[in-house]
Amino acid sequence: MTKLNLEFLVGTVLAVQVAMAQCPSYSIYSQMPHDPPSTGPLGLPYMRPAPACRTFNSTAVEKVINDMNSLIKDPDIARLFENTFPNTLDTTVKYFSETENLAFIITGRISAQWLRDTANQQFAHYHSLLSVDPKLATLVKAVINNEARYVAQYPYCGAFQPPPESGLPPTHNDWADGVTVNPPVNNNTVFECKFEIDSLCGFLKLSRSYYAATKDASFLNDNWRAAIDQIFRVINEQSQPTFDENFNFISYYNWTGGNGALSPMVNNMGNGEPKGYTGLVGTHHRPSDDLSVFAFLTPANAMLSVELNYLANVLDDVRQLHNVSQQAREWSKRIHDAIWNTTVVDNIFAYETNGLGSRYVMDDANVPSLLSLPYLGFLEKSNPTYRETRKLLLSRRNPYYAAGKNFNGIGGPHIDVLHPWPMSHISAIFGTDSDDDILTSLYLIAKNTHGLGLIHESQSIAESTYTRSWFAWANSYFAEMILDLAQRKPGLILSSNESYVVGQHHSQI
Ligand SMILES: *[C@@H]1O[C@H](CO)[C@@H](O)[C@H](O)[C@H]1NC(C)=O
Ligand SMILES: *[C@@H]1O[C@H](CO)[C@@H](O)[C@H](O)[C@H]1NC(C)=O
Ligand SMILES: *[C@@H]1O[C@H](CO)[C@@H](O)[C@H](O)[C@H]1NC(C)=O
Ligand SMILES: *[C@@H]1O[C@H](CO)[C@@H](O)[C@H](O)[C@H]1NC(C)=O
Ligand SMILES: *[C@@H]1O[C@H](CO)[C@@H](O)[C@H](O)[C@H]1NC(C)=O
Ligand SMILES: *[C@@H]1O[C@H](CO)[C@@H](O)[C@H](O)[C@H]1NC(C)=O
Repeated sequence: MTKLNLEFLVGTVLAVQVAMAQCPSYSIYSQMPHDPPSTGPLGLPYMRPAPACRTFNSTAVEKVINDMNSLIKDPDIARLFENTFPNTLDTTVKYFSETENLAFIITGRISAQWLRDTANQQFAHYHSLLSVDPKLATLVKAVINNEARYVAQYPYCGAFQPPPESGLPPTHNDWADGVTVNPPVNNNTVFECKFEIDSLCGFLKLSRSYYAATKDASFLNDNWRAAIDQIFRVINEQSQPTFDENFNFISYYNWTGGNGALSPMVNNMGNGEPKGYTGLVGTHHRPSDDLSVFAFLTPANAMLSVELNYLANVLDDVRQLHNVSQQAREWSKRIHDAIWNTTVVDNIFAYETNGLGSRYVMDDANVPSLLSLPYLGFLEKSNPTYRETRKLLLSRRNPYYAAGKNFNGIGGPHIDVLHPWPMSHISAIFGTDSDDDILTSLYLIAKNTHGLGLIHESQSIAESTYTRSWFAWANSYFAEMILDLAQRKPGLILSSNESYVVGQHHSQI
């Protein structure tokens, strides 16, 4: 009897593996439209992989898709939601073990886990479902534990290799060849060690959102505590100026390319531009993975201030690590004050400053961005300084804003100045109450998916060129925005003017 069952089980596991092996790679699948098209004027394709090829199944997620399909009035917008909302679970869960409490989530084409992308992909738009879908909650907890291990060991790095328990092989990163990074890293664990302070914020956001949705404090284990200590180490180290009072050079982290390496040299022996002390925390690279011009990235510090405050709230709620919660509150306030005191001139936030008087006024589409400050929870969208800055960012005065016959928006140097990112329009929608502005941005996105019904990385203002057909973060951010509109502006996108709140009303399961 037992033997029979076992054989049956082995047979089933094999069958699933064989079925998965026949699944087309989603990076190819996402470049071609699939039937049936939506019934709206855009006729957007159906881009979910076949059920047997999906990397995680959630009945709660399916329920939200059904609800939204019946509620959204424009079938094209409904189709975009249907394609994007489950994209992370459909395509990016490369490994999940409940017993090991580990999960590995990729960002898209590259088989590596970015702390930032994962926090956004994995969670932001699913969090209200965790209380109704215990399996999904277990997945998120496993992601947190996997990330806690990474952060505890390599707090300066942002992208990682699969955990050894998964049996998945590490991926070679051509861009890391010839790069010297200090503190040094092991390339079997680290995929890329660019230091981006918002990566650590992503980990904090994932943790506190999990706790808020489940009230389960079991994520707070030794790995997590070790990770938190390392985050404070980085905050202390990277808030220091380049020179001490005796002009001793202070460097805790440096990263440089070499001769012939794909990643170019970084000036000042891999340290980038010098900085003063302001109370802000420096970063080496931006959320786009591009090198920072000046170290103090305003939006990343805004996110850090917000997340440290949440961290303190969670720790106080579970009555643990009072020393950490105290430090978190102090830092949160110090950073908040330093943003207002040192980055704003004439009611305009700088994107980056160096703490010595220099500022770079611009915005990049990648979140955290200045345009996304209300989304990040740093300020209200009615804040006068935000409104003034926003006006500037969506105009020629922002060097990375561009407009053409097809598309407009904010991009960044990661692609080029002619390719704004749809993501900037999602941030713009989160930052306004104007129905006209919301609909304009929403339809610019919808009309510029290259007929593929997914949210791409960037889109040319005038040509039919785009980058990255499979970008799980952008898909998730779009779906999160649609759910936000369904709640705060239902009449704009739903057939009835009644708020739809995930986990309530229709989606009771
Ligand atoms: C998801 O469900 C489908 C059946 O609808 C199944 O074929 C597939 O293996 C499941 N995926 C996972 C990861 O369990
Ligand atoms: C790690 O670095 C070593 C030494 O440079 C190299 O031989 C190896 O291929 C690298 N591994 C990966 C996964 O990139
Ligand atoms: C690079 O960083 C390490 C610490 O990780 C430090 O010991 C070293 O002095 C730094 N080197 C330079 C050239 O900044
Ligand atoms: C907080 O206190 C604990 C226990 O004494 C200690 O292990 C930890 O390093 C402290 N954390 C910070 C960030 O100071
Ligand atoms: C910074 O801002 C805070 C709060 O707005 C204020 O109390 C403080 O005096 C300011 N500090 C400096 C150095 O301007
Ligand atoms: C929906 O209701 C709100 C508040 O009651 C109202 O301000 C808004 O104009 C309505 N929208 C539509 C499209 O009916």
